[in-house]
Amino acid sequence: MKEEEIRKIVRKSYAKAAKRESCCCNSECNENHEKIGYSKAELETIPEGAAFSLGCGHPVALASLKEGETVLDLGSGGGLDCFLAAKKVGEKGRVIGVDMTPEMIDKARENCRQGRYKNVEFRLGEIENLPVADNTVDVIISNCVINLSPNKKRVFEEAFRVLKPGGRLMISDIVLLKELPKKIKENEQAYVGCISGAVMKEQYLEVIKNVGFQDVKVVEEALFPIDFVINNPSTEAIMKDYDISLEEAKEYAGSVASIKVYAVKPK
Ligand SMILES: C[S@@+](CC[C@H](N)C(=O)[O-])C[C@H]1O[C@@H](n2cnc3c(N)ncnc32)[C@H](O)[C@@H]1O
Repeated sequence: MKEEEIRKIVRKSYAKAAKRESCCCNSECNENHEKIGYSKAELETIPEGAAFSLGCGHPVALASLKEGETVLDLGSGGGLDCFLAAKKVGEKGRVIGVDMTPEMIDKARENCRQGRYKNVEFRLGEIENLPVADNTVDVIISNCVINLSPNKKRVFEEAFRVLKPGGRLMISDIVLLKELPKKIKENEQAYVGCISGAVMKEQYLEVIKNVGFQDVKVVEEALFPIDFVINNPSTEAIMKDYDISLEEAKEYAGSVASIKVYAVKPK
């Protein structure tokens, strides 16, 4: 598939997710919050419409955000991580969410109005062409988005460009530990479900190093929970279409991992 075609499919799917508040990268999103690391207490501080995650981790928890910092969230969805980050950086700090799906941006802006956040803004744009000036961001976070990009190198080049020297990256994402079979690799539903756009873990880390980041490390790694895969409407449909047994599905699930990666732009 061509890059533009992939973006169209991803955008269409997440436009639907924005309207339904349903999930693409995981299944029953509200129930999954605790599994991916959000606490009940912190979710209670968030506007009701924003308390849903399409992510696969909790990058804000590990980003060690400090008061006054500028944070950029790549693929901000409904804005949950931006709102959590906003509390940590305080009034003197700033949070910018970027997402290419207009329906997601509308939803995030509405949530922002409801929560009366003064230090958060959402910008429509692609993470491969960030609408952000050079050397202006302290911390980049992202939650289950870069796997969806058809040009991951470009995403990390852009991240490098907008970070200040000494700025850091803390991202949650999906990677592969074993290659997936061709029938899954080529499946659109598996792509928007954050599985078939994922690349091998070593390849992912190499791209981050090659664009200039230092101190690149995986700070957490877990197999993508099997129930996310089995109970996910996208994967259920794929299993049915391709006559994939539960046993096979479990094996494929063992090839998919959720990681949290840290890296620094040299000073
Ligand atoms: C799986 S959701 C994650 C949303 C959010 N980070 C969260 O944790 O709830 C992926 C989001 O990334 C956005 N997205 C996917 N590819 C993108 C790209 N190339 N540029 C900008 N946004 C993108 C989608 O519109 C969607 O809102």
